[in-house]
Amino acid sequence: MPQRRIFVTSALPYANGAIHLGHLVEYIQTDIWVRFQRLQGHEVHYIGADDTHGTPVMLRAKDEGISPEALIDRVWREHKHDFDQFGVGFDHYYSTHSPENRTLCEEIYQQLQAQGLISQRAVEQYYDPVEGMFLPDRFIKGECPKCGAQDQYGDSCESCGATYSPTDLVNPRSTVSGATPVRKASEHHFFKLSDPRCEMFLRQFTQDPERLQIEAANKMQEWLGEVGAGKLSDWDISRDAPYFGFSIPGTQDQKFFYVWLDAPVGYFASFTHYVHTHKLPESLLKDFLRPGGNTEMIHFIGKDILYFHALFWPAMLEHAGFRTPSHIFAHGFLTVNGEKMSKSRGTFITARSYIEQGLNPEWLRYYYAAKLGPTMEDLDLNLEDFVARVNSDLVGKFINIASRCAGFIHKRFEGRLSATASSPILTQLQHAAIDIGKHYDAREYGKAIREIMSLADRANAHIDQIKPWALAKIAGQEALLHHSCSEAINIFRILTLYLKPVLPELAKAVENLLNIPALKWRDAAQTLPEGHQIKQYQHLMTRIEEQQIAALIQANQSNLQPSTAKVSKMTNPDIPVTNVPITDTATPTINIDDFNKIDLRVARIINAQHVTGADKLLQLTLDVGALGERQVFAGIKSAYDPAPLIGRLTVMVANLAPRKMKFGVSEGMVLAASGEEPGLYILTPDSGATPGMRIK
Ligand code: 2FM
Ligand code: ZN
Repeated sequence: MPQRRIFVTSALPYANGAIHLGHLVEYIQTDIWVRFQRLQGHEVHYIGADDTHGTPVMLRAKDEGISPEALIDRVWREHKHDFDQFGVGFDHYYSTHSPENRTLCEEIYQQLQAQGLISQRAVEQYYDPVEGMFLPDRFIKGECPKCGAQDQYGDSCESCGATYSPTDLVNPRSTVSGATPVRKASEHHFFKLSDPRCEMFLRQFTQDPERLQIEAANKMQEWLGEVGAGKLSDWDISRDAPYFGFSIPGTQDQKFFYVWLDAPVGYFASFTHYVHTHKLPESLLKDFLRPGGNTEMIHFIGKDILYFHALFWPAMLEHAGFRTPSHIFAHGFLTVNGEKMSKSRGTFITARSYIEQGLNPEWLRYYYAAKLGPTMEDLDLNLEDFVARVNSDLVGKFINIASRCAGFIHKRFEGRLSATASSPILTQLQHAAIDIGKHYDAREYGKAIREIMSLADRANAHIDQIKPWALAKIAGQEALLHHSCSEAINIFRILTLYLKPVLPELAKAVENLLNIPALKWRDAAQTLPEGHQIKQYQHLMTRIEEQQIAALIQANQSNLQPSTAKVSKMTNPDIPVTNVPITDTATPTINIDDFNKIDLRVARIINAQHVTGADKLLQLTLDVGALGERQVFAGIKSAYDPAPLIGRLTVMVANLAPRKMKFGVSEGMVLAASGEEPGLYILTPDSGATPGMRIK
């Protein structure tokens, strides 16, 4: 495989607030991808910075009685600390308030000006006469012009969802001084996105099927419209003083670059500072920041900022003589217990509080990885599911392999391994490197984790069969004991490698335990040689205790709004729904938001079998389209033979917390109808439905 040269970014967090678990979805997603590419031997530069400019930073500093520089300095240290704690391994973390960024912004602006792509015209906006400043939409409140709700922001109504311009608000007031704002005109600078050159470039930019996810490419088509439709508007890139930012050349400090102009340029500025401070070859600047360098630039972003990254940013770069993004990967938002997080309502769990409660950051990395895919679908942090999944997968399956076998190697064989090279289970594990690698590369982390955990299941079943702990008690079984434990250690080593992009700290601890150099992807092909000495087993990871989650919730109590609606029949997957007596009365009404919390999907039963020792259950393997495969234990044995079920479509609850049952983990629930009479009936969608479709 030729070596890839990749410049990777995550969106730059604003310097006026703390990092929360919503932010971390993106940083963890990016970091896993970066670590995986490095394990493959590619050249990767992962670059970040704080996004420091704009009115909110300026006003917050004023409120705190400090300078904006002092504020962004403090927040930079806080952010950096949080990223370090969560293992987000930027090669360089800088600030948009930097000399490099100012120079690059000026260069881009002047190039665009030289191309005839900057225009000026007067704009009328709300102005706070007391503070002597123009007001961004979010700093104006009033009554919604559509529904009359009080205390709504200047751009949209949280009560009825209407969007409007601040001048439409009834009885507007400035949230900075409380004064009634007045309309005032001022000269603004625009980037002429409506210019045919920009439109033509963006059409061609969007056409590359590799560049954008399909949803993003569709959005771009919507924004661009039909050829000649003239749907793109010029972009206002200036703000009036007072403003914390870079002044626009030639405006005598009266006009400043809008924060969204200098923020993405901050990617380049941070890269430049990285090259200089790490004394890397200057040629990297040309290779990675200018066209034709045979390198890639990849932006990981949230879906809400696609507009800036896929329209303005590439169009600006293209016409200012810089390279353009190779890929833009957008992800969805985080919900916690099914509820939207909202900064303005304060419903967030901060990274800091998570660490302060003593929670292991790698638990969260694992949980996010298990739920992340390559689409813009939102991701839910269900705290109950979080505890169940981490405890069952990481501790119950993965660590379990080492904790059951490593001790014997030390106690009985002086820490030395026996030969294991030709073991069939090891060969199977080694072959999985290709598929798991493809999943990581395609940002299909959920699929990668499912595959790794199914290998761990197979390994545990294999160990259960051999029972090293029983062999240890039988005289004359030393050779078999030695072989099986050595094989288990090799299995554990390969599984550790596969989890290494997600769990870098745990991988380090395992490398130390196994007394081996840092694992690389190609190491999957080898096993540890006969006679290799490992160190004494030390405990590698603890289980999450439910009290820790309770304490986390309490620490963020004023912020966290957990779901209060409980659909009792559906919260306990240990009880298949069909075993719950169904009454026709006393079901409290729910609203549509409650209903929407249940992720109902069409699923195809691709395997069905009896479960040894269970008299009510069938074990079903379900194909849920983009959500992958799920194993579900359903209490339908009294009504169905397994064989005829195979191939049928049915309906499942896909976001039910996985539950460890006596027979294995159930990863969802199929729905079935039953009444007073005996008999139960699983649901079937109408013909035409396909696996993975949502039921709404
Ligand atoms: O939306 C945000 O949080 C912005 N601070 C992201 C900026 S990303 C880049 F353009 F700098
Ligand atoms: Zn309204």
